[in-house]
Amino acid sequence: MRLLLIGFGTVGQGLAELLIEKEKMLLDTYGLNAQVVGIADMLKGSLYNAGGIDLRKALKLAGSGGKISDLPDKYDGDALAMIKTAEADMMVEATYTDIKTAEPATSHIRAALEKGMHVTTTNKGPLALHYHELARLAKDKGVRFLYEGTVISGTPLLNLIRETLAGCAVSEVKGILNGTTNYILSQMEEGMSYEDALKQAQELGYAEAVPDADVLGWDALAKVTILANAVFGATNKPDDFPCRGITEITADAIGEAKARGKRFKLIGKVWRDGDRVMGSVAPEEIDLTHPLAGIMGATNAVTISTDALGDVTIVGPGAGRTETGYSVLVDIIDAGGKR
Ligand code: HSE
Repeated sequence: MRLLLIGFGTVGQGLAELLIEKEKMLLDTYGLNAQVVGIADMLKGSLYNAGGIDLRKALKLAGSGGKISDLPDKYDGDALAMIKTAEADMMVEATYTDIKTAEPATSHIRAALEKGMHVTTTNKGPLALHYHELARLAKDKGVRFLYEGTVISGTPLLNLIRETLAGCAVSEVKGILNGTTNYILSQMEEGMSYEDALKQAQELGYAEAVPDADVLGWDALAKVTILANAVFGATNKPDDFPCRGITEITADAIGEAKARGKRFKLIGKVWRDGDRVMGSVAPEEIDLTHPLAGIMGATNAVTISTDALGDVTIVGPGAGRTETGYSVLVDIIDAGGKR
């Protein structure tokens, strides 16, 4: 499995570390020999070697703030040029999410699928804005288009619904889809100010590059849209759903809710109403006895309501270097491993 890594930030580096750490296990358990042949990053530079890149050296340079393009396998073109010319089996798209334009990620994904490469992405933009077009293109080309990491990182929500809950009719998916806001609300309940809690979430690497995307609910909204389109078969755009973030929730309101046996959570949900698919993001006062009320810090949790099993709740990390790197690894195993 020859891989192109488009984007070598937190996710790309987290994946590279896992590929090194799990090299033997991938081969022994899944017959998977994963070789990174190209890396393209807007800030760190680009590398290409048809025989495989030395990931340890690339990680060392990236980790010290250097340019990976100082290595001998330096590649001079941009990401799109690499995708169009490289000999590779799968592209990992892990550039930053731009939810307004979904670029440059969508162009990268289109080019890779057109060329007959499998694609995995952690980028929410292309999924929220162009899911059906890209899924159709992948089908036409006979390749896989996978995106486990776009919703609650490596915690297997999309795989769970697609594979393990196959045959269940899903009527609602509802939960804490954003770690940063859950972290802020949890810290505010402990007495920390909103500003300090947000700063900590940024330092811990949970927050988006522009944290407005978290606190105004846009990140959760992108995930709601992905669930609506990819799980419920809707053809929605983020703007179709009402969205409110946590910026209006004061420390006093959190305290008053607690006194009433309630806790504020930013809840993203998608549900069926007859033939229609509905979605929303808003703070809700959850009863302290509800399973979602006990989810604190940056942890995410989602309840899937099904016909055959009733409610199934999954809890796990929704962000992080290794956690999101893992979401890509599981897609690579899915596309190229033997089970
Ligand atoms: N900023 C996001 C969060 C990261 O806090 O959940 C994952 O999308």
